[in-house]
Amino acid sequence: MGKTVLVTGGAGYIGSHTVLELVKAGFKAVVVDNLDNSSEVAVKRAAELAGDSGKNIDFHKIDLRDKEALDKLFASTAIEAVIHFAGLKAVGESVKKPLLYYDNNIIGTVNLLDVMRAHGCKKLVFSSSATVYGWPKEVPCTEESPLFAMNPYGRTKLFIEEICRDLCLSDPEWSIILLRYFNPVGAHPSGLIGEDPRGIPNNLMPFLQQVAVERMPALTVFGTDYSTKDGTGIRDYIHVVDLSVGHISALQKLLDGSELGCEVYNLGTGKGTSVLEMVAAFEKASGKKIHLVLAGRRPGDAETVYASIAKAEKELNWRAQFGIEEMCRDSWNWACKNPWGYESPDQS
Ligand code: NAD
Ligand code: UD1
Repeated sequence: MGKTVLVTGGAGYIGSHTVLELVKAGFKAVVVDNLDNSSEVAVKRAAELAGDSGKNIDFHKIDLRDKEALDKLFASTAIEAVIHFAGLKAVGESVKKPLLYYDNNIIGTVNLLDVMRAHGCKKLVFSSSATVYGWPKEVPCTEESPLFAMNPYGRTKLFIEEICRDLCLSDPEWSIILLRYFNPVGAHPSGLIGEDPRGIPNNLMPFLQQVAVERMPALTVFGTDYSTKDGTGIRDYIHVVDLSVGHISALQKLLDGSELGCEVYNLGTGKGTSVLEMVAAFEKASGKKIHLVLAGRRPGDAETVYASIAKAEKELNWRAQFGIEEMCRDSWNWACKNPWGYESPDQS
């Protein structure tokens, strides 16, 4: 039996794809999620996709702020390492409810780290975000670029990064990898698991999907006057399967035995794509016309953000395989098969 990895937030969008890659790679995945923004169906479907290895996925409905429950789990299971996805991620909501974000994301993480420490489990992969680069003065963003948080959500990522750095300084037995994701999109090519946001989507790809399946009438393009090739914002979109595979590479680095301290890696493709290019690619993949409403800039949005991927390539031996075409193809496949996400009437 392979090593056991705890995946917090493993029922969520990126978590469920990573749980699948983990068991495919021979690990055992213990999933902890409070299902606040997800469905247990995602975990069941990941197990289905894993075939025989699906039996190596074990789900626990636990909130990270419930320290006692976490402690019990660690006491009953030998956990080698943790991949920590659990957190709230809606920027607008974080501006309206900062205490909720500090409580959930920061207190939840401190609890997790303390329980890990108490049980001698000192290897962690943490989901950080390109949001920590704020409005970058220079692109591509390298891991050394200046850090700046634009909102409470971004501050939780920055604070947690700092907490991890302090922890590694305090005790050399800790090895932590901070992964700064750029813009995760797409879905597993099977169309069985994908992104299923609650309420009105905040991000471009889920909104495009909902327009295509006629849940939303039109996509609002936020800003057409940026100094970019077509005036719209540029981002580094990365296929969620590539992103998930990046976690396995990070985990292998953690488990190879060397003292690592706290390391940070960008996970992106290194390529920038504009909103209108993304719309065109999605129209091509879906054969649907996306109605657009051209509007002003969204407050807090940066103009151009994309990653330098040299460090992850060199040190994690990882590189994204999929392009925009596959990202749109798989997003559309997921959206067609599950127009209402995991609540779609045809779900198994
Ligand atoms: P998601 O909402 O689909 O997954 C997060 C999961 O964590 C959910 O299943 C939710 O129920 C769970 N959760 C939240 N608070 C919890 C708590 N206190 N205890 C237990 N479970 C809890 O989001 P995602 O897109 O899969 O993102 C995963 C991580 O990656 C998050 O930390 C997010 O901030 C980070 N991230 C995401 C993106 C993105 O665009 N999706 C970009 C950069 C970073
Ligand atoms: C947003 C968050 C960021 C978070 C990231 C991943 C904000 C200000 N930033 O980043 O903190 O880490 O999601 O969850 O919310 N767009 C439209 N119409 C839409 C939606 C988006 O035109 O309906 C545009 C945006 O202006 C941007 C691009 O599409 O240019 C991508 O937007 P989005 O998917 O929300 O990601 P980010 O803005 O990069």
